[in-house]
Amino acid sequence: MERTFAFIKPDGVQRGLIGKVIERFENRGMKILAMKLINITPEQAKEHYKEHEGKDFYEPLLDYIMSGPVVAMVIEGRDCVKQIRKLAGDTDPKDAEPGTIRYDFAQNISRNIIHAADSDTSAKREIAIYFTPDEILNYPLDAHHWVFGD
Ligand code: CMP
Repeated sequence: MERTFAFIKPDGVQRGLIGKVIERFENRGMKILAMKLINITPEQAKEHYKEHEGKDFYEPLLDYIMSGPVVAMVIEGRDCVKQIRKLAGDTDPKDAEPGTIRYDFAQNISRNIIHAADSDTSAKREIAIYFTPDEILNYPLDAHHWVFGD
């Protein structure tokens, strides 16, 4: 099983969408290994988004991501990185497919509800920014057997 990192951004939290987003992960048979409501620190925000440093949206992105609590998660499932990205939809909600989180709940690339790691390498890097190993729980989820048939 693969792991990924995602967070529900401040707009998702403020708009009361925590349950709706998590429901989609659970519906897909994903297992949540860790989850917490946090205020992202400037250090975490800069480390997370360092690849965007210098871009015109970088400073507004940091302000936005630190403007209120986020729900950070470690999620496990088969092909989890790709599946959670697919559930999230295109970064720009205008390009996202109906049925994805960003299409269904967002209109603007700078207020796009959710972040999801784009690769296994990013997932590992991002998990380490927000979670210590002891915060990531290892437990059996009975539904996995029923979802995957093995
Ligand atoms: P996220 O998946 O968190 O990864 C980088 C974030 O930068 C992205 O979602 C958007 O919130 C933001 N972003 C990317 N491109 C732009 C852009 N052109 N204008 C504003 N925000 C952007």
